[in-house]
Order: sequence, then C-alpha cells, then structure tokens
Amino acid sequence: MDTDYESRIVTPEYSSSEDGETELSLRPKRIEEYIGQEKVKENLKIYIEAAKSRNETLDHVLLYGPPGLGKTTLAGIIANEMGVNIRVTSGPAIEKPGDLAALLTNLNVGDVLFIDEIHRLNRSVEEVLYPAMEDSALDIIIGKGPSARSIRLDLPKFTLVGATTRAGQLSAPLRDRFGVICRLELYTPEELSLIVKRSAGILDIEADDGGAMEIASRSRGTPRIANRLLKRARDFAQVIGDGVINRESAKSALDRMEIDKLGLDSVDRLLLTAMIKNYNGGPVGLETIAAAIGEEAVTIEDVYEPYLMQIGFLSRTPRGRMVTPAGYAHVGIPMPGQQKLF
Ligand code: ADE
Repeated sequence: MDTDYESRIVTPEYSSSEDGETELSLRPKRIEEYIGQEKVKENLKIYIEAAKSRNETLDHVLLYGPPGLGKTTLAGIIANEMGVNIRVTSGPAIEKPGDLAALLTNLNVGDVLFIDEIHRLNRSVEEVLYPAMEDSALDIIIGKGPSARSIRLDLPKFTLVGATTRAGQLSAPLRDRFGVICRLELYTPEELSLIVKRSAGILDIEADDGGAMEIASRSRGTPRIANRLLKRARDFAQVIGDGVINRESAKSALDRMEIDKLGLDSVDRLLLTAMIKNYNGGPVGLETIAAAIGEEAVTIEDVYEPYLMQIGFLSRTPRGRMVTPAGYAHVGIPMPGQQKLF
C-alpha cells in the first residue's frame, strides 16, 4: 500500500485511530440494525434461524466484495445472532500452521473464527484449515522423514467466517469448503443516507436529510467512506458554519476536500484522464494504468475500479480497460469521433 492510498480521504481503509475507534461504535450489532445488503441479510437470517433451531453450529460463511462494505460488521452480527463468541484475525497475521492451531484449539463450541483477507493465507496454513473446516480436526505431524506420523486432535465445532475482496484469488479447495457464500454489493445512495443518519444519531451530530443525502451520494457506495465524510463534514460545519450539516454545508465541505458530485477524488479523475490522454481511452492493461498513475495494480482493482465500473465510467474488456463515453463526459474531454450535438 502506498502513502497516497492511505491518506486518501475516500479510501475505504482505516486511516487514523480516531476513525478506527468511532467505526467500532458505529457498527450495528444485530441484523435488524444493519442497513442494506437485503439479499445477503435475508438468506443469513434463514441459515442462522435454521442452525439455531437444530442446535447446530452455523456452516462456514465466505463474505466477499470491495473493502468498506461491512464484512467484519456482518461477521460480528453472525456471532451475536448465534449467541457465540467471535475471534478476529486476518490472513497475513497467521504466519505459521502453529499460529492457526493455537487459535483453533482455543475456540469454544459454536464460536465464530473470523479471518479477514482470507485470500492471503499461506499454503501451509491453509492445509491446516481444511480438516478443521471439514472434520473439526487438527492433524499434527510428529517427527520427520520416514518415521513421521500424524495424529488427529478433535476440535470444537466452529464456524469460520472468511472475508475477502477477491474471491477469485481463493484456492478452489478452500472456496469449496464454505457452505454459504455471500457477495456484498456497493450500497445505493438511499441506503447510505440511512447509514449516515444512523451514525449522526450515535455520534450526536446534527445532519438533516439534505446533508445526509449529499454525503451519501458522494461516498462511492461505501459505508466506511460515508461515515468518514460525515465526520469531516462535521468539522467544517463546526468551524466555518453553525454546526449543522445541511446540503449547503455538506456540499462546501466535500468541494473543499476535492470530492466531486459522484464521490470521485483527484486519483479517480487522474486515472480516467491518464487513460484518455495516454492510451486513447483504452483498451489498456491494468499494469500499464498502474504504472502510469503510480498506484499498485491491486489497489486499482480493489479500490478504484469497482465504483468506476458501477457508475459506468470504466469497462473491462478482454483486451483491457476502457473509459466509457460517460467517463469522458465526466472529466470534460470530448470523445474522439463523437459529433458535437450542439
Ligand atoms: N455502519 C456501517 N455499515 C452499516 C450498515 N450496513 N448498516 C448500518 N450501519 C452501518
């Protein structure tokens, strides 16, 4: 991750401890409080109710989708609704098979083990996970060479909740061991506006409908960004306004942060203009775009592209990425070959 990405106001990653802490208090605890992702919620409710009525642990759940959409929050909700404890870790934090074995042997029956960025687990760790997921067992190898033996330890039955931004990078054997696979979608401005109002209530910030909608429509479909913009809008409203976030004060705060009407920041606009100016709008390969604007390819793929594609500014073709006519129009560059209508 480079610095640009970290300091970007619309990046969905946490950028400061203040944001990290308030985000925790903003997280809904029950499924009824969780706004949006209706299909995922409906299905999860049924799986949870069914497992509870059978007195079983919930099957393993894989949550995937762009960052900042509430995967960790949903994992917490799953544990709460099941009435069990949750252990939170991440793929890169589990370095050795022994680290995972320690986590697994400390679980209680029914507990949720949440592994964020599960696509980043290394192979040897992943292999410990297979029997744990399938048979609630831990295979321990004793000794080396021809005299090595394996003994099997029973584990408590648990629910693994894995989260990833890139389901395609998960190995097939791991993906196949999840009984429930949920894809999270970007939120609509209406859903985000409800989230902004809920957060404003919790944080004791005064925001009216217009202000909430202004923030929502510039948050790239992502609650984590909406909540962050809400706090920055409060800063502006407090220092140069009357403390209330309305459409005007939210607009001027977002304009000052150089976040445009659709939530694009300078990096998004740079990406589109670089593709247009250097590569005639595409098709151009991901790595080439990354080099042109000095970002990592994975960052472009995970953070920038989903929203640019959702709003129809970018398309993926077999020959590479292309800027769409709407993308040209947004950055104010005429598309070659297109006739002026007026
Ligand atoms: N805060 C962050 N994400 C949320 C969601 N989906 N619903 C309610 N509050 C949230």
